[in-house]
Amino acid sequence: MATKIKIFDTTLRDGEQTPGVNLNLQEKVEIALQLERLGVDAIEAGFPISSNGDFEAVREIARMTRNVKIAALARTLEKDIDRAWESIKDAKMPVIHTFIATSEIHMKYKLKMTEEEVLRKASEMVAYAKKYCEDIEFSPEDAGRTKPEFLYKVLEAVINSGATVVNIPDTVGYTMPAEFGNIIKGIKANVAGIDKVDISVHCHNDLGLAVANTLEAIENGAVQVECTVNGLGERAGNASLEEVIMAISTRKDYFDYRHGINTSQIYRTSKLVSSLTGINVQPNKAIVGANAFAHESGIHQHGMLSEKSTYEIMTPESIGLMQNRMVLGKHSGSHAFKERLREMGYTSISDEHVQKAFEKFKDLADKKKIVLDRDIEALIEEKVSEVPEIFKLESFQISSGNKVVATATISLKRDGLTITEAATGHGPVDAAFNSMERIVGIKLKLEDYALRAVTEGKDALGEVTVRVSENGEIFTGKGVSTDIIEASVIAYLNAINRIVSGKAAEEVKNA
Ligand code: KIV
Ligand code: ZN
Repeated sequence: MATKIKIFDTTLRDGEQTPGVNLNLQEKVEIALQLERLGVDAIEAGFPISSNGDFEAVREIARMTRNVKIAALARTLEKDIDRAWESIKDAKMPVIHTFIATSEIHMKYKLKMTEEEVLRKASEMVAYAKKYCEDIEFSPEDAGRTKPEFLYKVLEAVINSGATVVNIPDTVGYTMPAEFGNIIKGIKANVAGIDKVDISVHCHNDLGLAVANTLEAIENGAVQVECTVNGLGERAGNASLEEVIMAISTRKDYFDYRHGINTSQIYRTSKLVSSLTGINVQPNKAIVGANAFAHESGIHQHGMLSEKSTYEIMTPESIGLMQNRMVLGKHSGSHAFKERLREMGYTSISDEHVQKAFEKFKDLADKKKIVLDRDIEALIEEKVSEVPEIFKLESFQISSGNKVVATATISLKRDGLTITEAATGHGPVDAAFNSMERIVGIKLKLEDYALRAVTEGKDALGEVTVRVSENGEIFTGKGVSTDIIEASVIAYLNAINRIVSGKAAEEVKNA
């Protein structure tokens, strides 16, 4: 029987450390539920000691999920481990993941600890965590640059103290595939007790080798891989879940491994994560990029028409990417719309959410002759995280041109009251953003603005993603419309509502 490779997803922990990503509790829960649907074996839900927000999100995820292990990260410190346990104690299958650096460079400059001190701390804190739960994962941070003899000693000590998984991180993405494979081979051959525990790997992508290193580690005895959706993570990110999985699935002739992932949920998971994090997937990204299944050259198209396998090593359907079918028309009712959503895999969204998307669909069907699956997907994803609409868009009017100063007049409604303001800007979008800031009375820094066409053609929906910051905290907003100025206004308003609703919730809590 093929060896099962366990998938430990760290999108909500290492992935959330992606610069500019800041997910709220509801968004984290939404992603965790989708990861459970995807079939991952473990979700690292956060680093509870790092903030109250992280703690609460991990606790909520631990309560809301049942079929997946929930891990919480902790340094080898009692206070971290106590907090980690407090957050996951309601999980059906809790895991405490504790780590300490073992490379000379980290011990000398970061920890200022000797080998003996690190060795003692690692084994004592694994024993300390063990009093809380059975499943303890230990990571020697920067293992890729750790002296092998010392690495073996540390691993042996933590196994004796009760670790059930030893995770080997290439923290700085420094190793080459054969070299990383040899590290795993060396561990298997030299660490007493290694056969009693699972070997896991955690590869970063600084040299673009995270997936290659992960696969090489599997070939040398690793049975768990840590990865993230869309390859998110610190700096250049972590090994991408979808790439590791589709390599194993597509090359069954080469790899004798199995996994528990429902690959037809990959595309949806990727879309959800990019939508909520505001980090768009590059078009040429393997598996989930917009071009991953597009065939541009005439020779390729000709080959595809006679036999798909000439240029397609896996099918779009295998990752849940439906053929871009024409769906519904302007006469379609809400039943047909709901049914189409169900076929597309949107089975757990609220009735209110469906209703809002249906209203937008009707507007769109009026403007656009052919409504495609990708349009429907954009309408649904826009509202995927239901931010309370504290400010509602009433109307906007913009004037711009090459010889006039761009001016926007916007009316927003709050608690039944309409507030109107006008402002100028460097262009129509800037003017619109300035006028909304006047109405709401806040000043935001626009960190990123991205516009993409959802489908081809002049009548395509435009999807705008904005990332704004207020006092160093990042917020994301999304908007879709056939009018790109309107999409920009909706996206900015979505980010504003996210900020304002967070403040309102804070005020209620402190009252
Ligand atoms: O990259 C790393 O070393 C980590 C550890 C905490 C596993 O993220
Ligand atoms: Zn990491």
